[in-house]
Amino acid sequence: MSILVIGANGGVGQHLVNQLKDSNESFTAGVRKEEQVKSLKDKGIEATLIDVEADDLATLTEKIKGYDKVIFSVGSGGSTGADKTISVDLDGAIKSIKASEANHVKQYVMVSTYDSRREAFDASGDLKPYTIAKHYADEYLKQANIPYTIVHPGGLTDEAGTNKIEVGAFFEGRGTIPREDVATVLKEVVTTDYLLNTEFQIISGEEEITSALTNFTK
Ligand SMILES: NC(=O)c1ccc[n+]([C@@H]2O[C@H](COP(=O)([O-])OP(=O)(O)OC[C@H]3O[C@@H](n4cnc5c(N)ncnc54)[C@H](OP(=O)(O)O)[C@@H]3O)[C@@H](O)[C@H]2O)c1
Repeated sequence: MSILVIGANGGVGQHLVNQLKDSNESFTAGVRKEEQVKSLKDKGIEATLIDVEADDLATLTEKIKGYDKVIFSVGSGGSTGADKTISVDLDGAIKSIKASEANHVKQYVMVSTYDSRREAFDASGDLKPYTIAKHYADEYLKQANIPYTIVHPGGLTDEAGTNKIEVGAFFEGRGTIPREDVATVLKEVVTTDYLLNTEFQIISGEEEITSALTNFTK
């Protein structure tokens, strides 16, 4: 099984790359800069250039060829405007889903926002364009002809992972979660089959990650 991590240089992406490497999984880190490819390769990690905004659909389709699983851990970030939200978080996501579908990928894993439901638009304040982009990317994925998993993390922190989470379909309240724990969840999602065609929210909690995810599916 080969996995492509798009957005591998991000906060979550870097943890995921380290965890996949530690578990000897077969994967490639998709990053945007040549120097990032070089530094990953120097560490013995397969890496490739992939930019979901700059690469057109034909190019992305070619780049995704041969992978069984694709993880989209891309984000345009808070320091860019709504134009990037449209071209990266929406259009870039959908292009990568189309390219994955064309390649009959066995699972597409979307790192979404905590609440991408339509009813979250008005409550999301300055993040409204981002929430709308994530909503339609998630909707597109669910309607595409491709097995998927959509992970909705709470507010991301750089604290060390605890390996303990709370998982559910949709919470009333809010919470945070270390990027390292999000990566651990993504690793479980992408290296198993029991979380196919589902979506769930995750925040820090009391239950060990594998057990929490297993119980969620029961
Ligand atoms: N912040 C939160 O509280 C929060 C909560 C829930 C969900 N999320 C979502 O969680 C995901 C991961 O978060 P994070 O903290 O790891 O984000 P991050 O550190 O900002 O990483 C995002 C990654 O996306 C890459 N990227 C940006 N534009 C790209 C493009 N056109 N093509 C390919 N890659 C591109 C960036 O590349 P460079 O490194 O080259 O810049 C970066 O590596 C994001 O999708 C974010 O929207 C965030």
